[in-house]
Amino acid sequence: MGEPFYITTAISYPNGKPHIGHAYEAIAADVIARFQRAMGRDVRFQTGTDEHGLKMMQKARDLGITPKQLCDGMSSYFIAMCDNLDVSYDVFIRTTEERHHTASQELWRRLEANGDLYLDRYEGWYSVRDEAFYDESELVAGEGGDKLSPQGTPVEWTVEESWFFRLSKYAEPLLKLYAEQPDFIQPDGRRNEVLRFVEGGLRDLSVSRTSFDWGVKVPGSDGHVMYVWVDALTNYITGLGFPDETGDFANYWPANIHLIGKDIVRFHTVYWPAILMSAGLALPRQVFGHGFLLNRGQKESKSLGNVTDPLELAERFGVDPLRYFLMREVAFGQDGSYSPEAIVTRCNAELANSYGNLVQRVLSMIFKNMDGTLETFSSAEADDVLLATVFAACRDELPREFAAMNFSGGIDAWMRGVFACNAYVDEQAPWTLRKTDPDRMRAVLLTLFMAIRDLTIAIAPVVPTSASKVLDQLGIPADERSYAALTGADWYMARVATGEKLGAPVPAFPRLELPEDAA
Ligand code: MF3
Repeated sequence: MGEPFYITTAISYPNGKPHIGHAYEAIAADVIARFQRAMGRDVRFQTGTDEHGLKMMQKARDLGITPKQLCDGMSSYFIAMCDNLDVSYDVFIRTTEERHHTASQELWRRLEANGDLYLDRYEGWYSVRDEAFYDESELVAGEGGDKLSPQGTPVEWTVEESWFFRLSKYAEPLLKLYAEQPDFIQPDGRRNEVLRFVEGGLRDLSVSRTSFDWGVKVPGSDGHVMYVWVDALTNYITGLGFPDETGDFANYWPANIHLIGKDIVRFHTVYWPAILMSAGLALPRQVFGHGFLLNRGQKESKSLGNVTDPLELAERFGVDPLRYFLMREVAFGQDGSYSPEAIVTRCNAELANSYGNLVQRVLSMIFKNMDGTLETFSSAEADDVLLATVFAACRDELPREFAAMNFSGGIDAWMRGVFACNAYVDEQAPWTLRKTDPDRMRAVLLTLFMAIRDLTIAIAPVVPTSASKVLDQLGIPADERSYAALTGADWYMARVATGEKLGAPVPAFPRLELPEDAA
């Protein structure tokens, strides 16, 4: 097993069905997880649902069911979303699970033992929608003059007895953390926002509520449940078996990446590290706040009637094309926009026409003109140049960009490898060589065979199902599909030695059509 790599998504409130934003985050995390596995890391990938809090309680009340019924019913949609989108999570955590209550209470006791919790009165502005408290100074005026949170959600003046966490004590240690670990918060723009916020000084945080009971009970304090964000954040260690600090916890904590949306960066880069410091636990290595996905440039909302079911998109265009589009089209970290036309255009140009067509043409020629047989050949300079170009794109450039969370840039490098193959096919014209120089034709097709194998292994984290279909057709064994396999030509000689033949290829990247009703 390689070096451990722990990646998490935010856990979602299951107070409605998953939307495209949930799918985007899960897919991005999955691409990272698959990429790191292909790089030989021992990956642990966790996602889940955030089931406590006022928001969940109110939704259940609106529906006339218990919060527990709401959670049990809705969390299954999130699990189904992950499963349908080929999201290869290891742990799906639900915060209503017993083990999560145990972990949260133990974490609470540690904060208390460290002298960081005290009982006081809370008076302030609370937004149920954001499950967050705001300072008067942060509020903005709504259209009717009413007060809104900085996210534009309604706030209520709330007064109650509450436990407080001494967040104020951690402003200095946090600033030190940001200075010493400059990529703790990514991308840089988000880092600057957090820096400014913490430099302004921190106020202690209200961390319990008495006005409702749908949460984790505060140990030894009847009537108090934990503020939903305290228990939610704890999910990242619950899933590793905390409070047991051996086993998975010892192996995978601290997390390598908490992948989250840009709207919840503060919780993850201020509250969470402060809580961990107080509890004496190690801090995650990186929090990455990705951007939002806009539907033709607009935020999706029920009132605009433009809410997209990600599973419908996947059904319409295919899971892999959807995954490819999202990772390719959006500069990761920034907001991005999607539309059916954009998905079709991008996937047809790159996946179907440039890459899929290349695979299909080359494999058909090998099947038809060479009886599907792989054999040794002597290469010309053009063959070596092509292989070196593809090799550099797959083995160096794409992994370098993916490791830096620049997926679009990594895929761009990969596309350059695909283009190099297509240019080579045109130059070498194997269909002409068939008559004039069959030996040369074989060398050209077999060179392309080798290049296609590298290209397919490299892109597999993004389009896992179609890539494995292609690799199956190429006869590449399952244990030779990691990035480490992208070295030398021994694999090819081993492949030749087995003598088995390639069959008639089946297209793996069909062209997409724009459904009539989608425009
Ligand atoms: N449920 C929260 C939201 O949707 C996210 C919680 S992420 C966690 O905004 F880490 F705190 F769990």
